[in-house]
Amino acid sequence: MKYKTVAALPHARFSTIGFGCWSLGAQSGWRNSNDEESIATVHKAIDCGVTFFDTAPVYGFHGSETLLGRALGERRDRIFLASKCGLLWDDSHTTRRDLSHDAVIADVEGSLSRLRTDHLDLLQLHWPDHATPLEETARALHHLLDQGKIRAVGVTNYSVADTLALAKLVPVSSYQGLYNMLERNTDSYHDIPLEYEAEREILPFCLENGMAFLPYSPLFQGLLTGRFNADSKFGSDDIRSANPKLAGNGYRRYVAAVDDLKPIAEAAGISMTHMALAWLCQNPAVTSVLCGAHRPDQIADNAAAADVVLSERTLNDIKEVLERHDL
Ligand SMILES: NC(=O)c1ccc[n+]([C@@H]2O[C@H](COP(=O)([O-])OP(=O)(O)OC[C@H]3O[C@@H](n4cnc5c(N)ncnc54)[C@H](OP(=O)(O)O)[C@@H]3O)[C@@H](O)[C@H]2O)c1
Repeated sequence: MKYKTVAALPHARFSTIGFGCWSLGAQSGWRNSNDEESIATVHKAIDCGVTFFDTAPVYGFHGSETLLGRALGERRDRIFLASKCGLLWDDSHTTRRDLSHDAVIADVEGSLSRLRTDHLDLLQLHWPDHATPLEETARALHHLLDQGKIRAVGVTNYSVADTLALAKLVPVSSYQGLYNMLERNTDSYHDIPLEYEAEREILPFCLENGMAFLPYSPLFQGLLTGRFNADSKFGSDDIRSANPKLAGNGYRRYVAAVDDLKPIAEAAGISMTHMALAWLCQNPAVTSVLCGAHRPDQIADNAAAADVVLSERTLNDIKEVLERHDL
């Protein structure tokens, strides 16, 4: 494993491969996940040197945090633990954004109890809530910082303008956004419009401000492992069936790009998974790559990507394919 630090979080030692915990547990909404294997995956991640874990109340509708808390136990202090706030849901699991003072406090109290810890190392505002004044959200964040229940604040899916506006009220240490080889400046995620362009705006912004940049969906929900083909379909028991980019003509376009990337990985003597993850790890603006995994062998494989070094030739060949496919 390799590690990085950033000026905004001087005490954190980020493993370049982090663990995104959305798919943990039977309740997660991801096909194939079960509780026992998920717990073993958390333990394997720590054994492989992974120090950064990212979860959220909404993942598995409390399921991810509950399972992670159970799995961590005495290992809690060996990791840098991040969760999120500001996404609530109703009985049919339809989500809504809420970063009001009371909602933020209630989210954090709930996370601490489910994660069986007295503090979060990082609390991230999950999606911008334009209906709540930033001042109100910042008041809740200061209260939690003063109490020591959160140690730092980050944002995810924010525009640069909103991040800067929030940073005037409370220090913002990290940015989490959608970024992988095929979604570098994409304008949507699961049909939700994005208010940022990751590669063009966010990466330079984080570098300039000494903030952590944490790319999510680094494997495009599994597509960049090279295991899917044009006929792959996801059942209604899999969250990926709600990603319109993994169906129809748009999907075929991404699969065609993956088919052209495969020979580059082959020539470099590495797997597609390792090429996709190393491409991120090698970027100086990227702090910790948030890989999802639900089996120990997957997280071990992902962790090994931290030690892969892509040559200039491989990087240029990848660039040429992405440009040819207009991605
Ligand atoms: N801030 C946000 O709004 C936001 C949004 C999305 C995600 N995230 C974060 O980012 C994390 C990761 O993103 P993600 O879960 O969307 O997708 P991802 O990491 O791109 O893909 C994860 C999936 O790929 C497959 N996989 C992983 N490692 C593999 C390996 N070594 N070999 C073969 N297959 C492998 C697994 O699925 P199968 O085995 O079932 O194919 C796994 O569930 C999340 O867990 C979450 O923490 C944040």
